[in-house]
Amino acid sequence: MTSHNVFRDGLFDGQVALITGGGSGIGRGIADVLASLGAHVVLASRKQERVEQAAAEIRAAGGRASGVAVDVREQERVQRTIADVQREHGRIDLLVNNAAGNFYAPSESLSANAWKSVIEIDLYGTFFCSQAVLPVMRAQGGGVIINISMTLHYRGWPLMAHASAAKAGIDALTRTLALEWARDRVRVNAIAPGPIPTEGVKKAFAPPPSADGAVDVFAQERAMDDYAKRMIPLRRFGSPEDIANMVAYLASPAGAWITGAIMVVDGGEWLAKPPLPK
Ligand code: NAP
Ligand code: COA
Repeated sequence: MTSHNVFRDGLFDGQVALITGGGSGIGRGIADVLASLGAHVVLASRKQERVEQAAAEIRAAGGRASGVAVDVREQERVQRTIADVQREHGRIDLLVNNAAGNFYAPSESLSANAWKSVIEIDLYGTFFCSQAVLPVMRAQGGGVIINISMTLHYRGWPLMAHASAAKAGIDALTRTLALEWARDRVRVNAIAPGPIPTEGVKKAFAPPPSADGAVDVFAQERAMDDYAKRMIPLRRFGSPEDIANMVAYLASPAGAWITGAIMVVDGGEWLAKPPLPK
């Protein structure tokens, strides 16, 4: 399997990376890059067929991969999953807390269960996985945890109170765990991606169907193109590989003195001044 990126082949040979939400979108991009650099990637999410399919595709491309079904909101299940991975592979070098839930919804009508679902997947899930992997990493002499955050909470983002609150919590958790666990040689960092057009994000740009039910397929493309030109200083959306390359950097020896950092990978988007809402 050849690496399409700037890192040397075999960089992660012999290492094991557990990636939550690794069967789709950004998580899948992270899995592809780490596997191309020699890691065995364990993809973990709720849908067994999704993670198994993704793992099979990575193996078909020459990588080492397996899939495991787990809901990161269930602490005991998370603990069992991590114990199983440790038993099977002997170690876990890298945990990427990437699983998340999100949707646009007005705060005033957000139900208690809607709020709870997103906070539990993002914030509790990140905490449960991190806490469960600590003893494994400590016993093997160290490890790396990378939390996938976002930038929307840096200035507030209407209709996303739940996800932005959860990610603000993840940033705080990142800095705190970095301090607590440095003595165990466990580095804890976060990456804050800008917009990456995964399936969920593309849907947000889809115009509503017209009265006769027709969907203008080019309208979504035009809306995205327009957004990239107006709102992203580097004039393009990001790709899962943009985020995966930062994961590889932080997990490599080049990141050996980096802990408690939140790396923004967003083409400059959050710094650019947004227009006022109409
Ligand atoms: P995505 O493809 O929808 O990925 C979400 C993943 O999380 C799915 O694979 C899903 O798999 C898994 N998941 C959801 N609930 C879970 C649960 N309870 N337990 C275990 N796994 C669960 O979305 P994405 O765009 O790649 O997002 C990945 C990460 O990047 C998220 O943390 C997101 O907040 C962050 N991010 C994305 C963007 C962007 O523009 N795309 C921007 C900033 C930050 P199952 O359905 O099989 O569980
Ligand atoms: N607007 C308002 N409320 C919504 C909603 C929306 N678009 N989508 C879901 N909800 C509410 C549901 O109505 C429910 O609340 P209720 O019981 O009061 O009716 C609550 O959220 C939980 O929904 P449910 O579908 O039962 O939860 P789930 O645990 O199966 O799924 C979600 C979790 C809701 C986060 C779901 O969107 C998901 O699985 N997301 C994963 C993929 C994703 O979000 N990717 C983007 C990553 S950033």
